[in-house]
Amino acid sequence: MPMRLTAEERDILDGKKGASLAKVMKTLVMYGEAFDAEKMTPITGAHGHLVTSVGLGVMKPVFALLDSLIAEGVVSGQKFTVDPRPLDGKVPAGFLQKFFFKIMYSKQADYEAQLRKLGLIRDDGFTCTCYMNEVGNAPKHGDILSWAESSAVVYANSVLGARCNRNSGIIELFGSIAGCVPRFGLLTDEGRKAAWIVEVKTTKKPEAQLLGSAIGMKVMDAVPFIRGLNDWIGRELTQEAKDYLKDMGAAAASNGAVGLYHVENMTPDATERGLSLILPGAQTYVIDDAELARVEREYPVIWKDKAAAPKLCFVGCPHLSQAQLAAWTDNVCAALEKNGKEKVSVPTVFTAAPAVLEAFNKTGAAARLAKTGVITSGICPLMYMNNPLCGKMPVITNSNKLRTYTTARYYRDEEIVEKITGGSK
Ligand code: F3S
Repeated sequence: MPMRLTAEERDILDGKKGASLAKVMKTLVMYGEAFDAEKMTPITGAHGHLVTSVGLGVMKPVFALLDSLIAEGVVSGQKFTVDPRPLDGKVPAGFLQKFFFKIMYSKQADYEAQLRKLGLIRDDGFTCTCYMNEVGNAPKHGDILSWAESSAVVYANSVLGARCNRNSGIIELFGSIAGCVPRFGLLTDEGRKAAWIVEVKTTKKPEAQLLGSAIGMKVMDAVPFIRGLNDWIGRELTQEAKDYLKDMGAAAASNGAVGLYHVENMTPDATERGLSLILPGAQTYVIDDAELARVEREYPVIWKDKAAAPKLCFVGCPHLSQAQLAAWTDNVCAALEKNGKEKVSVPTVFTAAPAVLEAFNKTGAAARLAKTGVITSGICPLMYMNNPLCGKMPVITNSNKLRTYTTARYYRDEEIVEKITGGSK
């Protein structure tokens, strides 16, 4: 079915505002028609968020496209943040790896220059947790967004009550340029209804990254309505609860393709619409201790030498909040003291948004963390690892997203602390 366009949208499509803008609109119309959207809807969020943060040498058509948009003055009507950078000299890498990065990301500086011209919010606006207060790109309840980055989209939809589909790279930029997005899926009341009821029946607080993984692998791209979580994380969207939901959502979005979840009595849609969000005939998935243990047991370990000593540890995928940085600092310091050590025994990187790190670095916790040898960085661990050389390294992480997309091995938070502080191998 062809989409119904307004006169203004039709003029843009017909090229009355330039050839490049017409191509942008044509792409959005084709995207919408592929998903049976009937019309466009204006973006109401203040800022965009782009997923592509890497200046990969092989992305020549993208660079050429962006150059032509910039030359014609067809830039984003809204400022945007971008996913984390792939490189940071502070993160340990061997000579060969550094050489490889140089070739692989040969267009990084050029690409960032293009982003600045297109509407990058500020020079350090690179993070997947753009919605954190320190970063300043938190949409309001009900805002329509043109974002990509699965962990940010699921957070914006679920925890903030904004409305955004799981867009791809470039499409999200085109939405920001045109100022509108096709109306379908998670932008509609009907598309936000739950086809799954998830009953959490564990005897202790489930690890967020494990719970999200279990949910994602079961419901895939459907919307789950989660019950029983209030017993463990309360009903208020406190900072601690938001951090928990951030990590749970990122795991659900990457281990499956969840773009929105509801937590009973807690998340905005669930508090407003309650059980009416559940579709007739919704299926039920019960998650108890045994189910979480099964999910964890079945993760494949794809290290060549499964008994290898870890060479690197990443914590912070998605990026950590200030509160999480402080909590990890306390846990690492306490474990080092218990184990009679001063520094971590595995090179360890905690990742967070540059603006979050800037604020954290003003606290006493930052100085304590630095003494342990843990490095902080605004890097994306996935982009760092996504090449054959890093893929061979025995890397450990508490991130289920990093485990899914790379060779990194998943451990629960307390296991990570033990491993990096020399408590056990
Ligand atoms: Fe963020 Fe990169 Fe992980 S974008 S969620 S740190 S894969």
